[in-house]
Amino acid sequence: MTAKATGAAITASPSTPGTENFSLALRVHDLNYTYPDGTTALEHVSFEIKKGESVALVGPNGAGKSTLLLHLNGILHSTGSRGAVEILGEPIDPKKVHEMPKKIGIVFQDPDDMLFMPLLFDDVAFGPINLGIEKEEVKRRVKDSLLLVGLAGYETRVSHHLSGGEKKRAAIATVLSMDPEIIAMDEPTANMDPKSRADLIEILKTLKSEGKTLIIITHDVNAIPELADRVIVLKKTVIADGTTREVFADAGMLVAAGLDVPTIMQFFEVLQAFGYPCDVLPLSIDGAVDNLTQTIENGEGHVHLHIHKHTHREVDATLCKYHHSHHRHHHHAALDHPE
Ligand SMILES: Nc1ncnc2c1ncn2[C@@H]1O[C@H](COP(=O)(O)OP(=O)(O)OP(=O)(O)O)[C@@H](O)[C@H]1O
Ligand SMILES: [Mg+2]
Repeated sequence: MTAKATGAAITASPSTPGTENFSLALRVHDLNYTYPDGTTALEHVSFEIKKGESVALVGPNGAGKSTLLLHLNGILHSTGSRGAVEILGEPIDPKKVHEMPKKIGIVFQDPDDMLFMPLLFDDVAFGPINLGIEKEEVKRRVKDSLLLVGLAGYETRVSHHLSGGEKKRAAIATVLSMDPEIIAMDEPTANMDPKSRADLIEILKTLKSEGKTLIIITHDVNAIPELADRVIVLKKTVIADGTTREVFADAGMLVAAGLDVPTIMQFFEVLQAFGYPCDVLPLSIDGAVDNLTQTIENGEGHVHLHIHKHTHREVDATLCKYHHSHHRHHHHAALDHPE
């Protein structure tokens, strides 16, 4: 257990002593779900998330990620899922779903499912009002949440007239305004322009540093190293669960599941083929800068790269490892040394 999780457990959960799960934000145990049309979306899904952890949930299209998310606050449930989800140490009671937003806030994949009031103010105020928060505090929360997602002053805008990226940010604000202990987001960076994406990553990092538990569904693999300590790979069931580094180290599993590792990690593996000495591949640009700095310092101010007879074959092999389609790359053919 991390020191952080221990601290959170002692301070935040005095009401549930003696249970083993009191430091857990979330416990999913053998969750199964089949849609009414017979499509099985989740099979024997089990994992636990400690308070204060931030976890990326990845998986190919149709893997059941959104379906899983809808189970985390009880929106979706079935006889097969009864008791399978515990939030902050308590199983979800389908009769008390209205109490969930205090514990867990969920940002849906489609913001249109979250914005249904005439004005954006009403959408962002909706949650806090339902939690019984008094008027002035609601106003303050709406203002702060909109500011945080870069929509300051948008209170009187018509929600359904917002652009795609604005809607996504507005949807996030409707959850932030409730200040839940756990925040789960389905594709938060989808539809975002580069600046908004970078701003959102900063927001998520801030929430993480404030001790919120984060679950982030994303296809944006380059954002994961900055956001998540841990990655869960879902394909109807959990096929991998480990630290971000552990999961990204298993290229075979990821590519078989239709997924990727961060571009910078692939690039440093290519550099290795050119003789760059690197035991641990960097996962992010920051990691890459640290890695290069270290390597250059160790090399007394230089990095030595070279092309040998087999270099391009190694480069090709590296690229192939991460390649999804069956077409083979031949961009280095002209450079290949004659044998
Ligand atoms: N309302 C529904 N009725 C029937 N089947 C559904 C329904 N919603 C989703 N499914 C099916 O359940 C499976 C899981 O869907 P889900 O939306 O959870 O996938 P996902 O991992 O979120 O995918 P994506 O990355 O495309 O968002 C898919 O096969 C999907 O077609
Ligand atoms: Mg989805």
